[in-house]
Amino acid sequence: MIPSVTGTDASRPGPPLADADLAIRTHDLVKVFGDNRAVDGIDLAVPAGTVYGVLGPNGAGKTTAVKMLATLLRPDGGTAHVFGKDVVREADAVRSRVSLTGQYASVDEDLTGTENLILLARLLGHSKSNSRARAAQLLEAFGLTAAAAKQVKNYSGGMRRRIDIAASILNTPDLLFLDEPTTGLDPRSRNQVWDIVRAVVAQGTTVLLTTQYLDEADQLASRIAVIDHGRVIAEGTKGELKASVGSGSVHLRLRDPEQRQEAERILAESMKANVQLDPDPVALTATVDGSDTDQGAAEQAARALAALARSGITVDSFALGQPSLDEVFMALTDKKGATA
Ligand SMILES: Nc1ncnc2c1ncn2[C@@H]1O[C@H](COP(=O)(O)OP(=O)(O)OP(=O)(O)O)[C@@H](O)[C@H]1O
Ligand SMILES: [Mg+2]
Repeated sequence: MIPSVTGTDASRPGPPLADADLAIRTHDLVKVFGDNRAVDGIDLAVPAGTVYGVLGPNGAGKTTAVKMLATLLRPDGGTAHVFGKDVVREADAVRSRVSLTGQYASVDEDLTGTENLILLARLLGHSKSNSRARAAQLLEAFGLTAAAAKQVKNYSGGMRRRIDIAASILNTPDLLFLDEPTTGLDPRSRNQVWDIVRAVVAQGTTVLLTTQYLDEADQLASRIAVIDHGRVIAEGTKGELKASVGSGSVHLRLRDPEQRQEAERILAESMKANVQLDPDPVALTATVDGSDTDQGAAEQAARALAALARSGITVDSFALGQPSLDEVFMALTDKKGATA
């Protein structure tokens, strides 16, 4: 039975870790498809025993990077080591310690949950009775006992992801790659998968998780690498990433969308802030300078509100807070600038 825990505590900023403490170390890792540099020189250092988030939009190179680390794809440049073993020259040693839950389901649709797990356990060399016991144990731990005798093709998306992850931890791996484990899942199913990830890590497995969702990285990962166009554009603990974008952010909702452009100009001027227009046509977000104290940020915000009032701009709501990972991501990938 997989114990349930609520998180890991490895979000430690500090000196670089020694190689012995790393599950993954890559240096200038490259994969080229034709003239597309899908992975374009990635350096990663993943501490053992943690969840490491690789965050990036569609086509960023997440799956390609994971496949190289899992020895499924040969790098075109650079090096990658998993627990100190080279993924090309010592691929067998790497394979013996890792497992991959791919972005697309790998279990057999026509078999039941139980049949899938028993088959895979047998392929891994377990005896019949051990395989049966392990299958039952995992189905129970993942809340799939009631569905154990159903064909996987009749599973919901959330059940599919759970049976997939169960399949990849039949032998408890030292390193588990989870490639977008919750894409397309509803909130409840996502929470179930998150609990599973926490439980897997509590048992000592290192997890490298790719995701497009900032809240997922925020929930699970100790450290995060943000990748875009095959490159790492930021790396650090969640706190470090948030701090890199600013000490605080001010969210405003205006009464009148017509006044948003003017409000943007006033905020940029009075707060010396980087202002983003939110998808909501009356909302904007100003990121406050990182060098200011919280008090400074609050004072700046107060001054900005006064300036808006003087210009006859009505503010319906106002909130001061830490930047969200969403804001960090937008600022880093520049998908949504002040003029968007
Ligand atoms: N086998 C392949 N042959 C050619 N191009 C590929 C191949 N696999 C990936 N690519 C390209 O490499 C780039 C990175 O793709 P990759 O699948 O690694 O992105 P991703 O970050 O996993 O995206 P997603 O979030 O959509 O899964 C994309 O431009 C993709 O089209
Ligand atoms: Mg992918």
